[in-house]
Amino acid sequence: MPDDFLSNSAIVAAYREKTPESARLAKAARQLFPSGVTHDVRYLKPYGIYVERAQGSRKWDADGNEYVDYIGGHGAMLLGHSHPKIVEAVNHAMENGSHFGANHGLEVRWAELICEMVPCAERVRFTSSGTEATLLALRLARAHTGRKKIIRFKTHFHGWHDHVTAGITSHFAGEVPTGVIPDIVENVVLMAPWDIEAVTTLIENDKDIAGVILEPTGATFGMVPFPAGFLEALREVTAEHGVVLIFDEVVTGFRVSPGGAQAHFGITPDITTLGKIIAGGMPGGAVAGATEILEALDFDATERLGREKIQHQGTFNANPVCCAAGIAALEIIANSDVCERANASGAELRQRLNDVIIEKGVPWAAYGAFSSFQLFTNPQNRDVSPEAFDPFDFDYLELKSNPVGLPNKLRLAMLVNGVDISGWPGGTITAAHTQEDLEKTAQAFSASLDVLMREGEI
Ligand SMILES: Cc1ncc(COP(=O)(O)O)c(C=O)c1O
Repeated sequence: MPDDFLSNSAIVAAYREKTPESARLAKAARQLFPSGVTHDVRYLKPYGIYVERAQGSRKWDADGNEYVDYIGGHGAMLLGHSHPKIVEAVNHAMENGSHFGANHGLEVRWAELICEMVPCAERVRFTSSGTEATLLALRLARAHTGRKKIIRFKTHFHGWHDHVTAGITSHFAGEVPTGVIPDIVENVVLMAPWDIEAVTTLIENDKDIAGVILEPTGATFGMVPFPAGFLEALREVTAEHGVVLIFDEVVTGFRVSPGGAQAHFGITPDITTLGKIIAGGMPGGAVAGATEILEALDFDATERLGREKIQHQGTFNANPVCCAAGIAALEIIANSDVCERANASGAELRQRLNDVIIEKGVPWAAYGAFSSFQLFTNPQNRDVSPEAFDPFDFDYLELKSNPVGLPNKLRLAMLVNGVDISGWPGGTITAAHTQEDLEKTAQAFSASLDVLMREGEI
C-alpha cells in the first residue's frame, strides 16, 4: 500500500482522531508482537481498534466508541456477546475448578449434544481449536484408508497448519509456503473449487487419495460458493471409491442450521470438523464422525483390529469451562430459532447493503448466504450491478480479490461510522443483531461509500 494512503486520507485522519487510546496501545503492541497483532486478520493500517467490552451485537473500544460488530469473535458468537446463560455457565464452572486433568460429566453432555445435532456424529474427539481439528481429521483419513493424499479446494480455509497453508490467497500452483516441508505440499492436491469433473476423474484414477476436505458452503463461508450439485456428486464419488469426505464445519457448524451445513443440505460426510460456536465463545474444537473412522483413536478397537492407534493428547481438550459454555450455547441453538433469525438478518442486511450500492451507483454487490455478507468490490472494474450479480460469472480468484488497499480503507470508514466489518470485506451476523443494528449499518455503509468516492477509491 502506498505511503500517502496514511497521510492524505480524511478517513485515516478521522479514524486517528476517534481512537487515540487504541493508537497508544498499538504502539506498545508493536514492540511486543510481530506487526503488533496476535492473529493475521486483526492487522489493519494504521492500527486496529482495541476493544474493552462487548455485549449482544455491540462492542466498545478503549476510547469508549461503540460499534455494531460483524466480526462476532471470528464467527464464534452466534448468540451475540456475553449471553447471560453462557456467562452464568462459565462462572459456575470456574467456581468448580477450571481443569481437573481427568474425565468429567460436562464433556459427556457436550458430546451428547453434538451427536444429537450433527448428522455424521457417531463419535467425537475434542481439540482446542479448529486448526487442531482439521489436522486430526486429515490424519484420521490417512490412517483409515492407508493412503497418503488429500484433496483440497483452492481458496478454502482450514486453519494454519502445514497441510492447509498453500492455496488460500497464494501458492495456488504447488509452490511451497515458507517454513513448510515440500513433501507435505506434494501430498495435498489443490483443485479448482468449481470443477467437479476434474475432482471425479482424479478420485477415479488416483488410488492414493485418502480424503477430501472442504468448506461445505464454499470458501470463506460462501465467498466462493459451490455450484448446484457439486456436494452431491462429491459425496457419491468419494463413497464409491472409499475416500473419506470431510466437511470442515468450523464456521458453518451450529450456524447454518443447528445441525450445520450437512443437515441443511441433507448430505452426510464421513467426518466433520467443528470449532468456534461449539464452545460458546470459549476456545474449543472437535472432530466428529463415523465410528469406524474415529476408531483409529480407540485403544481397544485398534488392538482388536491389529492396527496402530493414532496418538492424540491436548492439555486443554474438553476443558470444563469451555464445555460449560459449549453446552449452554448448543442447548440454546438446539431448542430455539437462533440460526433462522441470524440467517434472516443476513438476507435483510445483504438487501440493505445492495440498496445503498444501487442508490450510489457503485459497481459492487453484496452477496452471500445464511448469516454472512460478502462484498464484491470489483477489482477488474467490470460492469456489475447487484440486481444481476451472479458469483459464478467470475473466476474464483477474482471473487477473493479486491482493489489494492480498498478493504483497509472501507474498514476504517465503517469504524469511523460505528460499524466493525471483516477485512475480506464482509462479515457474520448473529442472532443478537436487531433492526436498529441493520439500519445503522446501512447508514454507515452509505457514509463510507460517499467518503471512498470523494477520495477516488471507487
Ligand atoms: C472453515 C475453517 N476451518 C478451520 C478454521 C481454523 O479454526 P481455528 O481458528 O479455531 O484454529 C477456521 C477459522 O477461521 C475456519 O474458518
